Amino acid sequence: MQSLLIRSSSSLFTRNLLFCSRSVIRSGQISRNFFAQNASKQLTCQKTSLAGRIPQLLAIRRMGTLPEKSRKSVGYWLLGCSGMVFVAVILGGVTRLTESGLSMVSWKLLGEKRPSNEEEWVAEFEKYQQFPEFKIKNPNMTLAEFKFIWYMEYIHRTWGRAIGGFYALPAIYFWTRGYFSKSMKIRVLAFGALIGIQGLMGWYMVKSGLEDRFHGESDVPRVSQYRLATHLSLAFILYTLFLWSALDHLVPAQKLAGTVTKAAIRFRWLAHTTKGMVFLTALSGAFVAGLDAGLVYNSFPKMADRWIPSDILAFSPTLRNFTENPTTVQFDHRILGITTLSLISGLYLISRKRTLPPRAHTAVAAVAMMGWLQVLLGITTLITHVPVALAASHQSGSLILLSLAVWLTHELKFVKKLPK
Ligand code: HEM
Repeated sequence: MQSLLIRSSSSLFTRNLLFCSRSVIRSGQISRNFFAQNASKQLTCQKTSLAGRIPQLLAIRRMGTLPEKSRKSVGYWLLGCSGMVFVAVILGGVTRLTESGLSMVSWKLLGEKRPSNEEEWVAEFEKYQQFPEFKIKNPNMTLAEFKFIWYMEYIHRTWGRAIGGFYALPAIYFWTRGYFSKSMKIRVLAFGALIGIQGLMGWYMVKSGLEDRFHGESDVPRVSQYRLATHLSLAFILYTLFLWSALDHLVPAQKLAGTVTKAAIRFRWLAHTTKGMVFLTALSGAFVAGLDAGLVYNSFPKMADRWIPSDILAFSPTLRNFTENPTTVQFDHRILGITTLSLISGLYLISRKRTLPPRAHTAVAAVAMMGWLQVLLGITTLITHVPVALAASHQSGSLILLSLAVWLTHELKFVKKLPK
């Protein structure tokens, strides 16, 4: 009889253990490896007596706190990475707005040496003087002015490398401790690859401004707007992915209290579309920035005295206008910005009539407020001829808006399927 009891208690224990293991692994919090280590510790402690059963089951329950801790550590690390990418975007914007991006004319994977005495500074300045920006735009630049733009670019590049370090070292630690699930391992590799590609893309972009291709009278040496838009979009993608994964670990989405309705599912799709539109508007903003298109038609809502400016299709072939004509690029950015704001406002109004997870209501209100602020910032930046402080705030505003849209869609994660 006693042996029967022992067997049944042991099989109940094993069932609970398996259930616990599966649900933890499914939730993506820890890897099989991590679980196995802890499970085997628990199993060795197992006593084959009925009295031993309760503490054992309690121990398994408690195991939930262990992954919780490691889950939080991974979450804070990911949040830190997204914060660092955010700062990199601001630094990149300020570097561009202070026209500092072309001051360092070479690139080394592990970092360029900072000139340590006057002689080295003069040598560095002489290198810069070989390139179009100095020859065409800055022939009267002094060494002190050069040092300023050099440091701006240096800080941006050094920050980029610091992101690499802040990302890679904990990633190796967590990986070897078995903190990552299989899907998280794939994400970790993808993030690492994206960081590397972003560094290379940064240099590829700078190179386009150093080439000897500015021969027309009105040619201004600047980086290619295509490469700038790619560099900025990659930063936004990296930021969004880090943030989404950090939310997964730190603030898991809430479930809907009632039943999921068709209207709630449609709302989720609208929220995703709005997030996509924020991204698209930001991408078009990168073209405005890359072409200095904020310095033409500094009036709103009309462009000069027209709704549609006369030179909107001045370039040939027509398609070139959308990426190379400052007028068209600015016009598109306005239209996209206003369309996105309309979507955001609609989303907010609809949300008031829907039953959503509680935090989703807060998120949608935050998206609406930030959407209006962002458009007001954009208009002010335009009509005041793009001062650095306003333009940088408009740029960070776009990331804040995107973050809030990411948070909203994350909160709606479980509003997916109708109940069967
Ligand atoms: C949802 C709405 C909007 C978003 C997400 C957005 C986003 C952006 C982004 C990401 C940039 C590039 C910033 C940089 O790299 O420096 C930009 C530039 C710009 N945007 Fe917007 N924008 C929005 C609406 C508007 C509106 C409505 C206007 C004005 C009518 C506007 C005017 C500008 C101007 C003038 C620039 C160029 C600033 C510069 O040269 O740095 N934006 N925008």
